[in-house]
Amino acid sequence: MSQTLRGIFPVIQTPLDADGELDEVSLRREVAFYLLAGAHTSATAFTRVTHNILEWVSAHPEDRERARTDPMFVQQCTHETVRLQPSSPVAMRWALADIDLGSGTHISQGARVVIDLSSVNRDAAVFGGDADEFRPGRELPEGVAPYGLSFGLGMHACIGQDLAAGLVLHEGESLEGHLFGLVPQAVQYLFDHGCVGDPDDPPEMDPSTTRPYFGRYPVLFPGTPGSGARSPQDRATWCCSGPVRRWCGARPTSRSCCWQSRPPAP
Ligand code: HEM
Repeated sequence: MSQTLRGIFPVIQTPLDADGELDEVSLRREVAFYLLAGAHTSATAFTRVTHNILEWVSAHPEDRERARTDPMFVQQCTHETVRLQPSSPVAMRWALADIDLGSGTHISQGARVVIDLSSVNRDAAVFGGDADEFRPGRELPEGVAPYGLSFGLGMHACIGQDLAAGLVLHEGESLEGHLFGLVPQAVQYLFDHGCVGDPDDPPEMDPSTTRPYFGRYPVLFPGTPGSGARSPQDRATWCCSGPVRRWCGARPTSRSCCWQSRPPAP
C-alpha cells in the first residue's frame, strides 16, 4: 500500500496483516464502507433535517427566521432528526465473552445483540412523554445525548459524528468557536437562500427500500433567477390567498408570504 493511501486512510490501518499490509479485498471493503458511513448517512440526514424543518416552520411560523439565521436551532433540528430517524434502525454487537448486564440479562459468548435504536431513542422515560415527536431543543436528563444512540457508543462509535453533526453545547459553554457540524451548516445554507418545498411536486419516498429514505425531494428558491421556481403567472394562482392574489414577492421567511400554504382550488 502506498504511503499516500496510508496517509489518507489512517483509520483503516488497524487490520493489517503480520507484514503490516492490508489485503486488497479488505482495503476495498474499508474504502466502500467509509463512503457509505460518511456520505450516505450525511446526505440522508441532510434531506431529513430539511424536511423536518419545513414541516416545523409550517406549524411554527415564528421559527421560520431561525432556520435562516440561528445555527443553534438548525443544529438542534439536526440532532432531533437523527434521534428520531437514525441512519440504521438497529445496531449490532457480538459478545466476545459471557456477560451479565446491569438489568440482570445474561448474554452468552458469541451471541448477537441487536440494539433497537428506534425504541431506545424514543424512550419516554428518557426523552419525555412526547418522545415520538419532533421537538428541537427538548430538555434532557444529564448525560443523555440529544441524538440518542444514533451515532453508536463505545470503541466503534461513529468517528464522523462531530464532523457531521457538531458538538453538543453544554450549559455554561460559550457559543464562540462552537462546532455546529456540516449537516446543520449545509441545511442552514439552504434556508438562508430561501428554500421552500415545492407544493406542486411533493417529495417521494424511495420505493426500492423498506427503509424510510426520500427518493426525491424537490425544493424551490423563489425569487432566485434560474432556481426552477415557476413563472410569476403560476405563482399568482396560489401564492397569495388574500384579496391581492398576486405573487407577494416576499422572502419565504416573511409571515405575510404564503408559499407554504397553498389556498384551496377555486
Ligand atoms: C449524520 C451522519 C452520520 C450518522 C447518523 C452516522 C452513524 C453511524 C453509526 C450508527 C455508526 C456505528 C456506530 C456503532 O456501531 O457504535 C457509525 C460508524 C462509523 N461512521 Fe458514522 N455516521 C455519520 C456520519 C459519518 C461521517 C461524516 C463519517 C466520516 C467522515 C463517518 C464515518 C464512520 C466510520 C468510519 C464508522 C465506523 C467506526 C468503527 O467501526 O470503528 N460517519 N456511524
